[in-house]
Amino acid sequence: MYLTLDYNNMMAEFAGKHGIAPEEITGLSAKIAAAKKAMAEKRARGGMDWRELPHNQKEVVADILAYVDEMKDKIDAFVVLGIGGSALGPMAVQQALNHPFYNELPRGKRGGFPKLYVADNVDPERLTGLFEVVDPTKCLFNVISKSGSTSETMSQFMIIKELLENRLGKEGAKSRIVCTTDPESGNLIKIAKEEGYKTFYVPSGVGGRFSELCPVGLLPAAFCGIDIAGMLAGAAQMDKVCSNADERQNPAYMFAILNYICMKKGQNIVVTMPYADSLKYFSDWFAQLWAESLGKKFDLDGKIVNVGPTPVKALGVTDQHSQVQLYAEGPWDKFVVFIALEKFKETMTIPKLYADMPSLGFLGGVTQNELIKTEMAATEYALMKAGKPSMTITLPEANAQAVGALIYFYEVATAFAGELLHINAFDQPGVEAGKKATYAMFGRPGYEEEKQELDERPGKKSEYII
Ligand code: PA5
Repeated sequence: MYLTLDYNNMMAEFAGKHGIAPEEITGLSAKIAAAKKAMAEKRARGGMDWRELPHNQKEVVADILAYVDEMKDKIDAFVVLGIGGSALGPMAVQQALNHPFYNELPRGKRGGFPKLYVADNVDPERLTGLFEVVDPTKCLFNVISKSGSTSETMSQFMIIKELLENRLGKEGAKSRIVCTTDPESGNLIKIAKEEGYKTFYVPSGVGGRFSELCPVGLLPAAFCGIDIAGMLAGAAQMDKVCSNADERQNPAYMFAILNYICMKKGQNIVVTMPYADSLKYFSDWFAQLWAESLGKKFDLDGKIVNVGPTPVKALGVTDQHSQVQLYAEGPWDKFVVFIALEKFKETMTIPKLYADMPSLGFLGGVTQNELIKTEMAATEYALMKAGKPSMTITLPEANAQAVGALIYFYEVATAFAGELLHINAFDQPGVEAGKKATYAMFGRPGYEEEKQELDERPGKKSEYII
């Protein structure tokens, strides 16, 4: 088993009156049954293509590995140009599975694989800074955009394309760009075909934030020597577990149910707190998946509901010295999801020094492995004592299978929570308004109405600017 969910401390029996009574779960049985039915029907009619990714990508994996073989020795760095669902997964997986200072290792210690950079934001200092540490002509740029129209990603692409063509000529530039996009729609596929870039595909029915287990995530991972077949194998096993119709045997369903009950009670904030540096960026990846999927104004019947959980990112033990005070003593508006590793890749023993100083002596001979685990157990206990609910996801270790399983688990949980909330977890209309306003501000043709509306907005008052 690549993942277990321990929700003891979510229950009233342990967390007290702010915990969940078993009847709160059984009381939802009709809603849960309807959600299960909707999940099964959606999958059967091909409405959740991301669920098939662990099973239908044999050729894709072979193609990716062949391409990695062909290219890896020709480049110093693999650079992802993408944002949101096209960037957070590659970062999370790299951090989870590779050396914590991967890019700083000599190449030999990276297994001969190139460095990895992810340029997601359009902060002008980012690319400038990147090209001070790597030679762009020795990079392979992976333009990842499902829609092919995301301004941030496409602007990065345009900058890189011109830079490479100036330095390497058109043919040279072509060999330094690889695209990952929808096979049919959008500008990027059009450009890739016309300009002859090597291209991998995001299956049409797989949305951005559900795309980590397709070439969006697999290609960058493979370029860093990560076992992508192993990731898919872990996800395939999790698919079996998460297809169990009994929510008491299905961690993804139970995770969603517990979250749903908490949300309904106003415990709307979910703090994800891995106790492992390697899983730090999983909180970022999960935050996007959870927030963009579940934060919705309308339900499936068009009724205004304004629902959605607020994901918060934390890291154990670091944030024990930052946020835990709030979680232990602050308002009852949140719960914590710990993520634990049974085994770390390394062991570090603390030497037996200062035996005569009680506050230091007890640490002598203890491993950091024991220390981090004990601190997690102690925080779990302290929160329980304070009546603050928490649950714990445990992975045997941060390996490819477990990481694939974790991704798949969260994706199924998100879709199931969407069904419980009776909203569409796969769209993101709320981000459209900001995009349209950006286009209007730039005077993009077709956005004249938005421009006029913008121009007519009330001016800011100087009295409110200090
Ligand atoms: O989940 C989503 O759909 C978004 O977060 C997208 O991943 C993000 O906006 C990037 O979109 P695209 O891959 O189309 O460039």
